[in-house]
Amino acid sequence: MMIEGLSIWKAAGVVGSLGGAYAAYTTLPVNIAMRKLNSVIRMGNLYMSIQGYKGRVIKKYPSFSRKDIRIYLNRTEISFVLPIGLMPDEIYKKKDLFYQAFGSELEFDLSKDKRRFFIKAYNEEVKMFDYDQEKIAEGAKDIPLPIVVGNTQSGLVVYNMVENPHLLITGETGSGKSIQLRSILTTLLTQCKDRVELYCADLKRTEFHIFKGIAKEVVIKPNDLETLLLKVVKKMNRTSDLLNKHGLAHIDDLPKAIRPKYTLVAIDEFVLLKKEKDIMSMLEEISSVGRALGVFLILSLQRADSTVMDGILKNNLTVRMAFRASSAVNSRIAIDSGEASEILNKEKGRFVFSMDGLKFAQAPLLALTDAKAMLEPHRWQETTAENVIDLRNNEYDVEEESEPIDEEENIFGVLEYEN
Ligand SMILES: Nc1ncnc2c1ncn2[C@@H]1O[C@H](COP(=O)(O)OP(=O)(O)OP(=O)(O)O)[C@@H](O)[C@H]1O
Ligand SMILES: [Mg+2]
Repeated sequence: MMIEGLSIWKAAGVVGSLGGAYAAYTTLPVNIAMRKLNSVIRMGNLYMSIQGYKGRVIKKYPSFSRKDIRIYLNRTEISFVLPIGLMPDEIYKKKDLFYQAFGSELEFDLSKDKRRFFIKAYNEEVKMFDYDQEKIAEGAKDIPLPIVVGNTQSGLVVYNMVENPHLLITGETGSGKSIQLRSILTTLLTQCKDRVELYCADLKRTEFHIFKGIAKEVVIKPNDLETLLLKVVKKMNRTSDLLNKHGLAHIDDLPKAIRPKYTLVAIDEFVLLKKEKDIMSMLEEISSVGRALGVFLILSLQRADSTVMDGILKNNLTVRMAFRASSAVNSRIAIDSGEASEILNKEKGRFVFSMDGLKFAQAPLLALTDAKAMLEPHRWQETTAENVIDLRNNEYDVEEESEPIDEEENIFGVLEYEN
């Protein structure tokens, strides 16, 4: 009896510890993530169906194993392989399910062969931060034409515009577009002015005055922009002739001695150009052939719908920064996806960055005074002492912010500086 009693207790002990081990196993973060992924795939009907033997339908689901789930202190990384025939778009269409399962801080990436999906689910959102000159200079170093994106969950992102030409920035009023442009252009002008000529159009007349005297040209009127673009197109044609003459395909292939600088045209408040047909057709031309010729565009506006921006131009603006959108429809107009409408009004400078996948990002906050201080040494560097006095007296001692805009006056008209 004693022996039997003992074995019952023993058996209970074994079952108990097995049960405990099982409970511990199922609550392992890896297993929780696997279960969530499984249910997202099933609930989203994410499968490819094929006809099997005797007309039976076989469902092929994305595949993954334990080693495709990685748990880190600040994030969970998940990846899975699509069956051939299941298009990545089908996954993107069901993105909301992934958000429901894994939280709001997700980053989606796709392998080049479009078979493997990578999803990173972060525990915390990216915080606002100030422009840090040293850190950004370090990030921009060695990049031929560095565009500062800002902080993503994986840290500061800076990309090369030569490889990813033409940027579209959208977002409702007050969402952070102009501050982002300020930071992008200030970085370019302070880090690689010797490699790029910057042409700016500030149709709202509030932002780009700080670049006067450093950028090649700063204009505020559509007419002046048209003249500016004519020059850019001419320059582009000259580069094209040069490439033809040397039998080369890309500006970077030209010998250094004869290689022209890159050209960047940045336009804030693009919507004000909507009726300017000539300007539009030149921008379209630049967006179509500019890449190989080293001519790039950054266009910023609230809503890039077809009444404002032609389809060809929009399609050629392959990199997108979508700041807060007022509706999912507006977000989709910018990035073919609704995320930008989930950004809250108070989340200034937050946006969805679309370049080989989608990521939430936070733009650095670069205050006007800080941008001016950074730019100042570059402004006077190439002008003679005489010019400094001259220009100061005539052009620069203008109070920018409080300056009433006089339609007749063209103090910020075309200002050209020879480098
Ligand atoms: N990266 C940022 N970090 C923190 N605050 C920001 C950031 N960007 C913008 N802001 C805040 O939001 C305000 C509006 O930004 P900004 O002028 O860039 O908006 P906008 O999108 O250009 O608006 P509009 O379409 O009206 O020109 C700024 O004055 C600043 O206070
Ligand atoms: Mg603005």
